Amino acid sequence: MCGVGSASVSIISAKLSIMKILIYGGVFDPPHKGHFSLLKSAAIRIKPDIIFIAPAWKSPFKPAPLASFTDRAAMLKLGLGRLPQNIKKTITIHPFEFKRKKTTYTSEVLKYFSKKYPASKLYFLIGSDCLKDLGKWKNLSQILKLSTIAVGIRKGFGACAANRRNSKPPRQFGWRGGEFLALKGRFPPISSSKIRTRICAGYDPSGMPEPVENYIFRKGLYFSRVIKRLKKYMTPSRLAHAVSSANLGMNLAEKYGINRGNAALSLLFHDIAKGFSSRRLIRYVSGNRIRVPHMDKIISRNPRILHSYAGAHITEKIFKIKNRKILNAVKFHTLGRARMPLLDKIVYVADMACETRSFPLAEKIRKLAFKDINLAFKLAIRTKLNHVRNNNKEKIM
Ligand SMILES: [Fe+2]
Ligand SMILES: [Fe+2]
Repeated sequence: MCGVGSASVSIISAKLSIMKILIYGGVFDPPHKGHFSLLKSAAIRIKPDIIFIAPAWKSPFKPAPLASFTDRAAMLKLGLGRLPQNIKKTITIHPFEFKRKKTTYTSEVLKYFSKKYPASKLYFLIGSDCLKDLGKWKNLSQILKLSTIAVGIRKGFGACAANRRNSKPPRQFGWRGGEFLALKGRFPPISSSKIRTRICAGYDPSGMPEPVENYIFRKGLYFSRVIKRLKKYMTPSRLAHAVSSANLGMNLAEKYGINRGNAALSLLFHDIAKGFSSRRLIRYVSGNRIRVPHMDKIISRNPRILHSYAGAHITEKIFKIKNRKILNAVKFHTLGRARMPLLDKIVYVADMACETRSFPLAEKIRKLAFKDINLAFKLAIRTKLNHVRNNNKEKIM
C-alpha cells in the first residue's frame, strides 16, 4: 500500500474484530534508517493489522521542518521500499496533519484514530529520544489511556538500559500509568538534525536509504542545490565560513523559535561578494545604483564593507531570492542598523562567532548566544569595534 491516504484503509476499517493499529508519528525531516528499523521492529513485535505513519505538520517542540510535508511524505514512501512486503502492505502514510495544516498534538491524533476505529487497540510508536519530553506532552493521561506506547530503546538517546531489560515504564520521564512496550532491536544512532547539518554543511550525509538520499539531492532539499551553486562563487575557505556560520545560525534560530531556513540562507549568502576587490566593489555598487548610507566615508575608510550591499544585490538578482528578511540580513551584516530584528542579530552573531573564527572572544560569544542573544549581539558589536579601532578590520567583517 504505502500510499498517502490509501483507499484500502476504508476496506480494513470495515473489519469488526479488534484490530491492532500502530501509529507512528514524527517530523521525518528527513526520514532515516533509524526510523525504518524502529518501524520494522515494532511491526514484527506487535504484528499490527494496519500501520499509519502520520508525519507531523510541525512538532510542538521544534521549529517548522525544512522540507515540505509533500517532500517528507515522498521520502518516507521511498524509504519504506526496502521493508518486507508483508509489513509494507499494511502501511499508509496518513495525511491527517497535512489536512489540518497546523501543529497537532499526539492526543488529537489518537482521539481521531480511536474514533475512526473504535474496535481497535492503538499502539503509538516513538523513539526513546522522545521519552525525555514525555512529561511535557499535552494531555499525557489521555494519550496513555488511548494507546500503548511502544518505544524503541536507542543507546544514548534518552533511555537507560534498565528500561530495555525490564520493560518498565520510565517513571523518571514523567510516566504515570499506562501501557508501555519496550522494543528490542538495533536502532542506528542517527538523528535527522545531524543529517540536516551535514547536508547543509556540504558533506555527504549517511544514515538514509539510498533512494531518500537521491531524492534530497535531486530536489535540492536542505540547501544542497544552493551550496552546489555557491561553490562556483566562493573559495573553499570562504564557503566553509559561510556553511559554518549557517550551521550556528540555524541552531540559534531553532533556539529562539524563528525560521531556520531564513537564517541559513542569509548566512550562506552573506559573504558572496567578499572576494571582490575594493575597486570592483565600488564599481559594482555604483554601477547597480545600490543605495549605501555614508558611501563617501565608506569608500575613503574601508570599501570592503560594501561586500554586504553587493552581496544582497547578487543574492536577489542572480540567486533570485526575494525574501526581504534574508536580503536585509545579508545587507546589514557588516554595519548593522537601528532596531535590528532577531534574524539580523542572529546573522551578525553567527558570522562573528562561528567555528571558523579563531579570535579569542569568538567562543565566548558563541556560548553566550545560546543563553542571551541580545547580550551576545552587544558583545559581538563591541568586539568588532575594538578590532576596527585596532585596525584588524579584515579579520572579522
Ligand atoms: Fe562572514
Ligand atoms: Fe562579511
